[in-house]
Amino acid sequence: MGSQHLVLCFLLACFPSILAQEIAGANLGVNGGHVLAETDENYVCATIDWWPHNKCNYDECPWGYSSIMNLNLSHPLLAKAVQVTWFLIADDLIAFTHLRVRLGGSLEDQVVYDVPSLKIPCHPFWKQHDGLFGFSRGCLHIGRWDALNDFFSKTGAVITFGINALYGRKKSKNGVWVGPWDSSNAYDFIKYTVSKGYHIDSWEFGNELSGSGVGASVEATQYGKDLIKLNGIINDLYKKSPSKPLLLAPGGFFSEKWFTELLKVTGPGVLNGLTQHIYNLGAGNDPNLKKKIMDPHYLSKISETFSALNKIIHEHGPWAHAWVGEAGGAYNSGGHLVSDAFIDSFWYLDQLGLAATYNTKVYCRQTLIGGNYGLLDKTTFVPNPDYYRQEILHTYSFLKLIMALYIICSSMLNVAFIQCTFVEPFNGKEGITLLLINLSKKTSFIVKLQNTMNKDLHISDDIIFKEASFTRGLKRTVSWVGSKASSNGQLHREEYHLSPKEGRLQSQTMVLNGKPLQISEHGDIPSLEPALVHVYSPLYISPSSISFIVFPNFDAPACK
Ligand SMILES: *[C@@H]1O[C@H](CO)[C@@H](O)[C@H](O)[C@H]1NC(C)=O
Ligand SMILES: *[C@@H]1O[C@H](CO)[C@@H](O)[C@H](O)[C@H]1NC(C)=O
Repeated sequence: MGSQHLVLCFLLACFPSILAQEIAGANLGVNGGHVLAETDENYVCATIDWWPHNKCNYDECPWGYSSIMNLNLSHPLLAKAVQVTWFLIADDLIAFTHLRVRLGGSLEDQVVYDVPSLKIPCHPFWKQHDGLFGFSRGCLHIGRWDALNDFFSKTGAVITFGINALYGRKKSKNGVWVGPWDSSNAYDFIKYTVSKGYHIDSWEFGNELSGSGVGASVEATQYGKDLIKLNGIINDLYKKSPSKPLLLAPGGFFSEKWFTELLKVTGPGVLNGLTQHIYNLGAGNDPNLKKKIMDPHYLSKISETFSALNKIIHEHGPWAHAWVGEAGGAYNSGGHLVSDAFIDSFWYLDQLGLAATYNTKVYCRQTLIGGNYGLLDKTTFVPNPDYYRQEILHTYSFLKLIMALYIICSSMLNVAFIQCTFVEPFNGKEGITLLLINLSKKTSFIVKLQNTMNKDLHISDDIIFKEASFTRGLKRTVSWVGSKASSNGQLHREEYHLSPKEGRLQSQTMVLNGKPLQISEHGDIPSLEPALVHVYSPLYISPSSISFIVFPNFDAPACK
């Protein structure tokens, strides 16, 4: 099994007619024979940031003790959220999933590492009026680095670590920092990391210094030269290691000119991934956040950025892959009761799927914990709704991943929206998983799925619903999943229908197949049980809901 996963091609037609009041049909065609895009096998990723407890936005301080420096690594819910999920098949251990974790954020470029050569005292961040982002330099104690690595190794997390890219530079005019990067502190830190055998999947260079930067910026030409230097250091320090970590940059907002220049200066064999950050919903206190999240046209505007990044990689750096290194939806720590509530998943899953269709290899959600956008509550460590979403997605993406489907359907009265994610189910049988998002507030959908593999790619009449025969035809066609369905007797599909408690989009409690998800008496994160539904029964999608539907035995040679 390769490390890369496949994304199939899809085809979808919307069925605009309203059959009964507020029920509409959607016609989905999936071409099981065509690859649309590929992701890394550990596509799903979450971040841990450096922000201390006294980082505040809009008179709120939403970070608590969730920093890389002080997050409570002994909290049992943290380990449970991160740890490897094992799958037992026929009583044999056959597979597992890892959560990818990216360590980084705004204060990253003010972090020094506590190695013997560091000549200054090792102290945490403190508020400093004229400091970058209002904070002083902070130091990562080597004992803390040991503890973090111990935690990651026990939980099986796949680690990306962001290196301070401002070290040694001088602040010039307009937030531009000049001069070459001083690699000495990073060199000793990476050397220590290698000597301890800590496994780092990827080293990333800098945070939001690209283009005009956020707080600070560095010219692309200088940045490129420094990356060549860092690549040399990694090659040198890992020369005796069986595997070499990836090198990623710049962990910043997309700027066509700056990213192009970076690829030109570094050339082949230096950068493995271009990491971009995305906050396309606006500020955490924007009163229109909810409206934007529920507007499919707004959500899909970001595809222009994905497309532009693809284009420059294709033209100037085909050896590098696109990553989303950090995406939190709303910037400045997110919005409370939006970023940490059910409604946020409409943005999150939409973008997760959209990014995959543009060949993004990894997508890191800001944050695993901390700020208003944490997958876990910063104080109780109890999962917020988005946690469960990524958990289901993650569960089903461990073997052959993901194909994301993406289409906007306009029905007569409502804008309906469907996005699909396709994975091979964990039971070892072929199949696909669909992620269906219904942004409509009133209409339900009945979805019909067909494999278009051996058909013309345009939608032909026989796939499009005929209103009169719709209900009748539904029984036969709604879950037609390919020739294998009848031959080996797997007659059920697995359905995960997710909705907010009491229908309130700003609820922080998620309901799965009608049951609220809550931490058990023993403090366990609830297991996520699908409903088993006969493959020939109609597939209903409720208003304002999100569903993962796993179809067994879908004939999809492209998944192989
Ligand atoms: C970390 O979490 C554990 C388990 O909940 C708790 O016993 C411990 O006191 C916490 N440590 C700190 C420093 O808060
Ligand atoms: C979403 O729900 C709305 C009503 O809330 C409905 O009109 C629409 O058909 C549904 N769309 C899908 C794709 O399920």
